[in-house]
Amino acid sequence: MAVDPYKQQVAHAAAEQVPEGITLGVGSGSTVNAFIDALAARRVRIRAAVAASEASAQRLLARGFEVIDLNQADEIPLYVDGADEIDAKRHLIKGGGAALTREKIIAAASRRFLCIADDSKLVDRLGRFPLPIEVIPMARSFVARQLVKRGGRPAWRENVVTDNGNLILDVSGLRIDDAVAWEKDLNNIPGIVTVGLFALRPADEVLLVGAKGLREL
Ligand code: 5RP
Repeated sequence: MAVDPYKQQVAHAAAEQVPEGITLGVGSGSTVNAFIDALAARRVRIRAAVAASEASAQRLLARGFEVIDLNQADEIPLYVDGADEIDAKRHLIKGGGAALTREKIIAAASRRFLCIADDSKLVDRLGRFPLPIEVIPMARSFVARQLVKRGGRPAWRENVVTDNGNLILDVSGLRIDDAVAWEKDLNNIPGIVTVGLFALRPADEVLLVGAKGLREL
């Protein structure tokens, strides 16, 4: 499949920022796929990568990078990942690819989180993109009812099982004015493994690409 030229552009710009010899955190999704390809094309020599999904790990391995488990890594100097929505505070919605739990863990373990995306992902307020939430299978209906009480419309992403063996609910209709407060509240519902809001640990930098070229948020 042809790679979107915007994704290629932002992926190459991000690959330029990767210092040689580091342990690199690598997210998941089509923009990250372009980033992995850019790393390989530019022959960036990293010590190893920690991958947020099995798919990213396989792609990294296929391009000759060493992939290690997070337990084998110390602090990660740089984590590069995409997003489904981004606001001006660099708060994100992630999880469109169902890899949100590992993405959030690696983001938390990283000194710098560089988010890469095309500028269609930039929004005034998060929540137009249905919020992905990873749930323990037995808690799916219970969690869904808690989300309805908060004004959400949860939809079970059928036929999807995460790399951790869990399910995804995609929640529409939430008014996410205060992303930090929402993330804290939803984190407290038993049965939720990970909320796809990245506000408590936002991106440190966002590299956006669009018709006018690259810009940093
Ligand atoms: C996966 C993610 C991705 O970063 C997000 O879905 C963006 O993907 P893409 O780069 O394909 O638009 O959070 O869980």
